[in-house]
Amino acid sequence: MATAVGSAAIDSRVEEFIHKPRHMFINNQWVPAASGKTFPTYNPATGEILAQVAEGDKEDINRAVRAARAAFENPAWTYMTASQRGRLIWKLADLIESRTEEFAQLESLDNGKPLAVARVADVPLTVDLFHYMAGWTTKIEGNTIPISIGSKRTQYFAYTRREPVGVVGQIIPWNFPLLMAAWKLGPALATGCCVVLKPAEQTPLSVLLLAELVAEAGFPEGVVNVVPGYGETAGAALAAHPDVDKVAFTGSTEVGKLILQAAAGNLKKVSLELGGKSPNIIFEDADARSTIPGAASAIFFNHGQCCCAGSRLYIEKNMFDQVVEGVAEQAKKIKVGPGFEPDTNMGPLVSKEQLDRVCNYLESGLNEGAEAVVGGKKKDGAGYFVEPTVLVKTNPNMKVVREEIFGPVVTASPFSDIDQIVAEANNTEYGLAAGVWTKDLSKAHRVAHKLRAGTVWINCYNVFDAALPFGGYKQSGWGREMGHEVLELYTEVKAICAAI
Ligand code: NAI
Ligand code: MG
Repeated sequence: MATAVGSAAIDSRVEEFIHKPRHMFINNQWVPAASGKTFPTYNPATGEILAQVAEGDKEDINRAVRAARAAFENPAWTYMTASQRGRLIWKLADLIESRTEEFAQLESLDNGKPLAVARVADVPLTVDLFHYMAGWTTKIEGNTIPISIGSKRTQYFAYTRREPVGVVGQIIPWNFPLLMAAWKLGPALATGCCVVLKPAEQTPLSVLLLAELVAEAGFPEGVVNVVPGYGETAGAALAAHPDVDKVAFTGSTEVGKLILQAAAGNLKKVSLELGGKSPNIIFEDADARSTIPGAASAIFFNHGQCCCAGSRLYIEKNMFDQVVEGVAEQAKKIKVGPGFEPDTNMGPLVSKEQLDRVCNYLESGLNEGAEAVVGGKKKDGAGYFVEPTVLVKTNPNMKVVREEIFGPVVTASPFSDIDQIVAEANNTEYGLAAGVWTKDLSKAHRVAHKLRAGTVWINCYNVFDAALPFGGYKQSGWGREMGHEVLELYTEVKAICAAI
C-alpha cells in the first residue's frame, strides 16, 4: 500500500501513520465516525489508495461542536492567561518543527507536491505562522474612549475589550493542507476561540498528525477538534450548525456562496478566502533575467493549484516574444513526476477530478483558437499529471482567460497602453492578487494602487509572510487572513461604559 510511491524512502513513523485507519479528533481523543464509516484518501502520483480515514457526518459535527462549546466555557481555557495561551501555541509550533520530515512526507503523499517543496515551504511557513500568532495573544488590546457626554456630576469611563468570537467552524482546501489549517487555527487559538476544523477530503492526513500535537502541546480538551469528511455532508453540517459562532472557509467561490447561505440560519460570522484569476503584468522595462523565472513560478508553483496563481500574463508588446519564449523554456525544464522522486519539480494534480477539470479547460481553450506554445495536455500513464502549459492567441472572452483553472496553465497576451492594461487586469470577478514587473518604481506603485486585488507583488510573486494580510476583493472573498488584520475576524468588540 505505502511502498509504490517513488524513490525516496518513507519514514517508518509515516508508514505506521497511514497503515491503520485514522480516527477523528474530538475532545483530545481519537474516535471513529458515529456511522462507523471510513473513506479513502489517494496518492495522486499513482491513483492508489493511501489510507482510510473516519468519515465524519452531521452527528460527528454535532459532537465536535458540543466539545468545542464545552471547552469555550471551561475555565481551564477561558481563564488561561494570554501568556500561557501564547506558550501553548509556541510549543505547538516547535512540536511541528521537530516533526518536519513526517509532515513533509504526508503532505507529498496525500497532495502530490514535491517532498522538497513541502520541506522548505509548507512546513516552515506553518511553523512561522504559529510562532507569529503566539506573539499576538498578549497584544489583543481594547481602547479607552473619550465619550462626549457627562458633566462634572456624572462622569463616564468607557472602554472596549476584544473578546473571542466563540466556537469557530473551519473548512479548508487541499492545495496546502497543513498550512491552510495553520492560517485558520493560529488566529483562532491566539484569540481564545475553540475550533471544529474539517480538512479537505482529498488531503486529511497532515491535519490529523497536527491534531496529535495539539494534545501533546497541552491544549485543554475540546479546544481543537478535527472532523474529516466530505464537503456536502460534514462541511455543510458545520457551516449550518446553529451553535457555531463563526465559519471560516477557504476554497472555491461556488462553495463560498453555499457557506454564506448556510451561515444565514443563525447569522454566524463568515470569512471567505476564495478563488482568483490573478493578472501578472510585465512592462517592457522589466529586468528579463528575474522577470521570466518569476512569471513562470507565479503560475507553476504548486502546479498552479494556488488561489493567487499568476494565471493571466500580460506582457508589453516589445517584450512579448521574449517573455513567452522564456516562460516556455522554463516550462520545458520542469521535471514532472512523483513528489517522492528527488529531481521532481512538479508533482501530479491532487485528484482525478482536478485533472479532468484542468484538461477540460485546456480542451476548451484550444477549441476556441488558443495555441499552446508548450504543454497543452495531460501526461499518459498512471497518476494525475498534466504538462505545464503556456497559451497564446487568447481573447478576453475565452473561459481559459476568465475562469480559475487551478492548474499549471497560463494565458499570455500582449498590451501597449497602461490604462488599458489596468482596466483589462481588473476585468474579472475576482480580486485576490496581482503582479507588476518594471524597473520604474513610480509606475509600479501607481499601477499597484489601481489594481483591485488584496495583494500586489512588485518584481516578485508568491511572497508570503505570517505578518502580511492576505485575502480578496470582489468575489475572491471576505476578510483578511494573517497579519494583525485576521484578529478582527476572530474577535468581537465589546464597549463597556461605566458611570463613575
Ligand atoms: P471546494 O470549494 O469544493 O472544497 C474546499 C473545501 O470545501 C473542502 O474541504 C470541501 O470538502 C468543502 N466543501 C465542499 N462543498 C461544501 C459544502 N457544500 N459545504 C461546506 N463545505 C464544502 O473545492 P474543490 O471542489 O476541491 O475544487 C474545485 C475548484 O475550487 C478548484 O478547481 C479551484 O478552482 C477552487 N479551489 C480554490 C481554492 C483556494 O485556495 N481558493 C482551494 C481549492 C479549490
Ligand atoms: Mg467541490
